[in-house]
Amino acid sequence: MESFATPNPGPCIQGTHCCEHRSRMSEGKNLIGVDIGSSSIKVCQLKESRKGYGLVRLGYTPLPPQSIVDGHVMNAQAVIEGLGRAFSEAKIRQKEIALSISGQAVIIRKISVPMMTAAELDEQIQWEAEQHIPFDIKDVHVDYEVLRRRPEAGQMDLLLVAAKRDEINDYTQIARSAKLKPMVVDIDAFTVQNLFELSRGIPPDQTFAIINVGASLASINIISRGASAFTRDIANGGNYITEQIQRQLNVSFDQAEEFKCASVSADAGAVPAQVHQVIETVSDSIAGEIQRSLDFFMATSGEPEMHRIYLTGGTSNLPALAQAIGRRSRVAVEVLQPMERISVEAKEVSQELLRARVAQFSVALGLAMRKDRERRV
Ligand SMILES: Nc1ncnc2c1ncn2[C@@H]1O[C@H](COP(=O)(O)OP(=O)(O)OP(=O)(O)O)[C@@H](O)[C@H]1O
Ligand SMILES: [Mg+2]
Repeated sequence: MESFATPNPGPCIQGTHCCEHRSRMSEGKNLIGVDIGSSSIKVCQLKESRKGYGLVRLGYTPLPPQSIVDGHVMNAQAVIEGLGRAFSEAKIRQKEIALSISGQAVIIRKISVPMMTAAELDEQIQWEAEQHIPFDIKDVHVDYEVLRRRPEAGQMDLLLVAAKRDEINDYTQIARSAKLKPMVVDIDAFTVQNLFELSRGIPPDQTFAIINVGASLASINIISRGASAFTRDIANGGNYITEQIQRQLNVSFDQAEEFKCASVSADAGAVPAQVHQVIETVSDSIAGEIQRSLDFFMATSGEPEMHRIYLTGGTSNLPALAQAIGRRSRVAVEVLQPMERISVEAKEVSQELLRARVAQFSVALGLAMRKDRERRV
């Protein structure tokens, strides 16, 4: 991957002139990172200084069940109210935000095109995208990043990103209704990659996966030769575990959720043994689905080895999941510590929230690294 002076902003999807905004150098003020997940809204504010990044605000608010289904907002009012609550409880006054979308509304492909200049590519990209994307090109917003130039073959490799305009508009409209100003719309998988790059850097000679397992989605991003080489969102996550506990123990969703989270706390002893069994079984089935994607990548990419798997997202709190993924893949699995290179810089940041929910903040933290004035250099 080309190296960036500051953390790589990655492809972004914006309403207009996205490619001009996409930058290799960020400047200006950090945006508020706003992650509208299916279980909850996460918001945070970072401050960048010579010492690095400092966390100055952090907010979390749960969403009622079914507010977001398959990435679609079903209950806009609940999300608008949730955003208002998250901002006021976290005492965030700044309105300019970075959002992200994920799931079926987004398609990411690695493609090769003939060598051309940036201006030619900007003109050609719609046509190129049309060859690779199963949606009507009029309905999607297209962006790209040049991964590699291969003049000897007369080709260049691109990461092509297409996101449904309807979905982008739904999310930005909701943010505006909550009196916020969306400046950047990113993709979940890339925000986590940016955060990872801040923490660890991207080793150019390794193939590794970053997997964000939330409530309803597991998003897989495989990074190889310094750049994202494969992404896939699987419609499976922590909700599936909760639903199986609910069904097999004949308890409410809320009770099942409580059992699940308590199973990894100091109160684990009070949790029925059956809960642990369900967590084991369902984690293994999620790991199986993840493994199918990893197998597909390894079979089609020609890469000889997967070096490591990094896990994040709320469901990474369950050690059974990392164990199941490790067992199936025979690759070392590490749970990411999102705050590894970020210090806490304000008393307004709730230590309790951070302790209990830090794994859920990777997307919001990655978004909060984005700036309001980003330019190409
Ligand atoms: N301590 C814990 N133990 C087990 N599971 C947990 C714990 N904390 C959170 N979770 C689970 O993590 C999930 C929420 O994670 P996250 O906030 O990353 O998802 P989301 O962004 O809301 O959803 P998605 O990205 O799938 O739309 C829920 O299924 C929740 O039960
Ligand atoms: Mg999420």
